[in-house]
Amino acid sequence: MGHPLACLGILGTLVLAGCRQDMHDQPRFKPLAESDFYADLRASRTPVEGTVARGQLHEDAYFYTGKIGANPGNYMPAEVPVNADTLARGRERFNIYCAPCHSRVGDGNGMIVQRGYRHPPTYHQDRLRQAPLGYFFDVMTNGFGAMPDYASQIPPRDRWCIVAYIRALQLSQAAGAAEIAGQQVPSAAPAFEEPGSGATPAVELPASPEPGAETGSHGEEKQR
Ligand code: HEC
Repeated sequence: MGHPLACLGILGTLVLAGCRQDMHDQPRFKPLAESDFYADLRASRTPVEGTVARGQLHEDAYFYTGKIGANPGNYMPAEVPVNADTLARGRERFNIYCAPCHSRVGDGNGMIVQRGYRHPPTYHQDRLRQAPLGYFFDVMTNGFGAMPDYASQIPPRDRWCIVAYIRALQLSQAAGAAEIAGQQVPSAAPAFEEPGSGATPAVELPASPEPGAETGSHGEEKQR
């Protein structure tokens, strides 16, 4: 080792460092700990009544619950007008989050169901055709029976877009002659299919010439 004085210096530093520990280890309470300082024996004070955390003031209860009091309402909230954008967004979100089980047409024959998951009821039955809009919002928000909730994956606004799309889907599958009276049906109804693996279908490429075939006397064939 070095000079004996250097050793002393190191020792001194260690001793002094020990004295500073109290700054690192101050008296404090962990959340929800008990303390006899306050009469209610809680170490933490409860927030003032009516305190709302930032971003948590959900004044418009209908927008966040789909309910008026305890019952589902049957209208779209003012924040989400029904227009082409809303329906397009709803279709996109529905096809992502709901179609794996409910299928793109909503008959409950989604891919996961075909692989053994519980079969959801079809949307195209009177009970669900008559169910108020807020009911669908509530099922997404809180789940339903075997179905998990989607509150954390789908923000409220998108949930409403899906609600609007489901209603459109129901109308599209239940339209009778009366709804189209006097009108020409513009085109055949689209055939819905479950998407495949997601891979692009193979494209038939023209057979490539034998290696070396394009060189030599038939070189001009290249300019097609
Ligand atoms: C993992 C599969 C799965 C997904 C994904 C799913 N559901 Fe369901 N859903 C079910 C099943 C299963 C039921 C039937 C549950 C039961 O009866 O216990 C159901 C039932 C329902 C019902 C009918 C409730 C009733 O009154 O019978 C609605 C409406 C519904 N789902 C909407 C949705 C919407 C909207 C989405 C997308 C945000 C969605 N579901 C995503 C499986 C799913």
